[in-house]
Amino acid sequence: MKQAKLTLEGKEYEFPIVIGTEGEVGIDIGALRQNSGAITFDPGYGNTGSCRSAITFIDGEQGILRYRGYPIEELANGMRFTDVCYLLIHGHLPSPEQLSEWRHQLNHHSLIHEDMKKFFEGYPPNAHPMAILSSMIGSLATYYPDEEALFDLNMIRLLAKTKTIAAFSYKKSIGQAYVYPRNDLTYSSDFLHMMFAVPAEPYGVPKVLDNALNLLLILHADHEQNCSTSTVRMVGSSGANLFASIASGVCALWGPLHGGANQEVIQMLEQIRDDGGDYNKYVDLAKDKTSDFRLMGFGHRVYKNFDPRALILKKAADDVLNELGVNDPLLEIAKNLEEITLKDEFFIERKLYPNVDFYSGIIYRAMGLPTEMFTVMFALGRMPGWIAQWKEMREEPSGRINRPRQIYVGEQKRSYVPVKER
Ligand code: SDX
Repeated sequence: MKQAKLTLEGKEYEFPIVIGTEGEVGIDIGALRQNSGAITFDPGYGNTGSCRSAITFIDGEQGILRYRGYPIEELANGMRFTDVCYLLIHGHLPSPEQLSEWRHQLNHHSLIHEDMKKFFEGYPPNAHPMAILSSMIGSLATYYPDEEALFDLNMIRLLAKTKTIAAFSYKKSIGQAYVYPRNDLTYSSDFLHMMFAVPAEPYGVPKVLDNALNLLLILHADHEQNCSTSTVRMVGSSGANLFASIASGVCALWGPLHGGANQEVIQMLEQIRDDGGDYNKYVDLAKDKTSDFRLMGFGHRVYKNFDPRALILKKAADDVLNELGVNDPLLEIAKNLEEITLKDEFFIERKLYPNVDFYSGIIYRAMGLPTEMFTVMFALGRMPGWIAQWKEMREEPSGRINRPRQIYVGEQKRSYVPVKER
């Protein structure tokens, strides 16, 4: 199976086939327009491969997710997020020496320039932290020049400083003093310490919270060519620097259909709780085409089976809430929604299952994180994936600027008639 054939207006065209490591088949239409004058048409890119990538593999039918070949279930069981960052970006697990240097670098570069603190002063107290995060990440480019020789250092700076920026934005929003990073803590504990410690008293991050956040960050670390990662590649393909490219990914992630869904899920569950917990009413609303209501946290462009991350998070939600002694009615509502939809023809027919965003917010909430910070947590986790994908795009020998075509449906040529002659 080396060629695909297309017949258009009586003429036959042949195109080479590209086959992936796991047997996926792609039709290379690189010569389509020059040979036939036609283009493909695929709004939403559901059937379009934008690149070759060796970072993450997803099988949506089987509910499989692997980072650099390692099943997510194995990576989520005991690895540290910083090690997964190394794996995604460098393509292999670090040696003990590499890991030690990696962790040292991430600690050493976790501070932001003191002048950057002034940026926070310009935001209103209720500024959404995703707006702050995207602009602060873009602003890192004003401190750290975009030189090829500095790429590795800038990548570490970005990974190390993002948690500081996120925690500082939270402290600013509640009018508390910034808590600076500490080199003796893990990545997740350091973030939680910066979020919840106050200068007046020592704060020890409970192990259950460190482990829960470490798991959440690993599960969000990459997900092949999703909307925000494709945005990072799109922006980076113009030659834009790492910080500008990642800042654009943060903006894309913010959307409620993408990373913003974890905040929307909690708001939906709270709405159901406040409406007497009548989840059947909301399942019916989601099925009613005349309503624009959707069950947030359900459905996925790729997964037509359970999102493996949702399966892990559903169990983690039980474990974390039990260990914290938290009894959250939203978890029961979520479980009831899942149970009902699994038996409902509307959802079965459309293969709508809980996705990564469905249970994550319940854990963040139990950890004491404010709802507005949930998508920031998604961005923290996705940072290594965005960096790895940007690096892979930049290292692609045949890399070109991304520039899709269109089908024009506007007015045909017409002459302009100045007003006085009308
Ligand atoms: C993430 O791409 C990634 O990998 C993303 C992500 C990652 O790690 O980067 O996994 C993270 O973004 C997860 C998705 C989070 N978003 C949500 O939970 C929002 C709710 N879900 C949907 O809006 C939707 O399912 C999407 C956006 C996730 C996928 O949209 P698609 O693939 O364009 O599917 P669609 O909108 O065309 O829906 C197909 C059908 C439609 O019904 P019909 O027109 O066929 O009758 O399913 C219905 C939709 O109405 N449908 C839903 C639904 N999602 C789809 N109906 C009710 N509730 C829903 N949640």
